[in-house]
Amino acid sequence: MTILQQEMILPNGTKLSNRIAKSAMSENASNKNHEPTKTLINAYKKWAQGGAGLLITGNIMIDSKALGEPRNVVVEDEKHILLLKKWAETVKGTQTHLWPQINHPGRQAMEQINSELMAPSAVPLRSSGRKNATKKIPRALLENEILDIIERFGTTSLILKKAGFTGVQIHGAHGYLVSQFLSPHTNIREDKWGGSLENRARFVIEVYRSIRKKVGADFPIGIKLNSADFQKGGFTEEESMEVVKMLSKEGIDLIEISGGTYEAPAMMGKRKESTEKREVYFMEYIEKARTITKTPLMLTGGFRTSSVMEQAVASNKVDIIGIARPFAIFPNIANDIFSKKLTDCTTQIQKTGVKAIDGAMNIIWYESQIKRLGKGEKPNPKLSPWSVFIKYAWLIVSKKLFFLFI
Ligand SMILES: Cc1cc2nc3c(=O)[nH]c(=O)nc-3n(C[C@H](O)[C@H](O)[C@H](O)COP(=O)(O)O)c2cc1C
Repeated sequence: MTILQQEMILPNGTKLSNRIAKSAMSENASNKNHEPTKTLINAYKKWAQGGAGLLITGNIMIDSKALGEPRNVVVEDEKHILLLKKWAETVKGTQTHLWPQINHPGRQAMEQINSELMAPSAVPLRSSGRKNATKKIPRALLENEILDIIERFGTTSLILKKAGFTGVQIHGAHGYLVSQFLSPHTNIREDKWGGSLENRARFVIEVYRSIRKKVGADFPIGIKLNSADFQKGGFTEEESMEVVKMLSKEGIDLIEISGGTYEAPAMMGKRKESTEKREVYFMEYIEKARTITKTPLMLTGGFRTSSVMEQAVASNKVDIIGIARPFAIFPNIANDIFSKKLTDCTTQIQKTGVKAIDGAMNIIWYESQIKRLGKGEKPNPKLSPWSVFIKYAWLIVSKKLFFLFI
């Protein structure tokens, strides 16, 4: 038995059966009704048999008027409850928890699929590092709209609980709305929602309280939080540590650490040499965070070898090992690590030599692999990036036409 197979008890008493978690990967596998599809549910059936203690879904939107991507699942009322139940049932009979990640994209969204973009302040994206994110100037949210979004986080969580999911994760990282409120770069409000860190953190704290009020004390709530935005004038490491303290005081059950935004995508591994050598991103941060909180910490970004994962847990720096991209290629990853069949889950995509295409593959190549899983096919580590690119280019063209009809 490896240390990664030790169980973990969260502050509210919830038991995770081991230390390996699938971090969120937006599957972009819904349909125009924004419901969970067969493909999506089937991918989770496969992952549910893979032995991880926790599976976190790709981000689910809390408002159909604020979509990150065209094929996001949206949960804002009970109209998809039967399909959500089927999704939640994928882990039935296993020891795996399934937590949806819930999100509002704020300004980091495609303008083609949203009638308007809203954010804490009217600050546009400087450059879009990913897909079709827009540079359009968002509109600053009004106070009543902020309160409505906070309420929605709670409502969505309650529906997910009713459907049978065993916890939720707030997406508080990567430059989406929660993270936009935290960052002085994107939040220049002068009311009680902006300015001091206490004011900028008010949104995430109220989101947490709204969810807790609806789901009760026994239902685990986690958050994915940026260690920093890695941007001049952005959310700093020191501020992030303060937010960790605030959320811990509120009683949050699990804090997952990541970092970056569309403008500075550190979550995908733009690393300094020292970090590269150590395989894992944000490790220095987690070591410091460990000293200021007793809340269980999950770290995501770069974990690939079982020896490094074991060492991170054994040295008590991290409680839960978060892994994303390798789950798309090694769906049985936790079992295979435990049985020592897999000691290195590095994935490598062939290079096309075209920078823009190779950059996009970090997302769309993995989405294609998830869709293969959902269709009952085996992952294909040799999948040609050109074939993925051509498929997506066609989709983008057809989606543009599709947008005219929805
Ligand atoms: C296809 C894809 C989609 C992603 N979607 C999300 C998402 O919905 N929410 C999120 O918090 N992170 C998302 N991420 C980021 C991952 O959760 C993770 O932070 C990142 O891939 C680094 O971890 P890794 O090195 O183990 O892949 C996504 C990553 C990929 C590859």
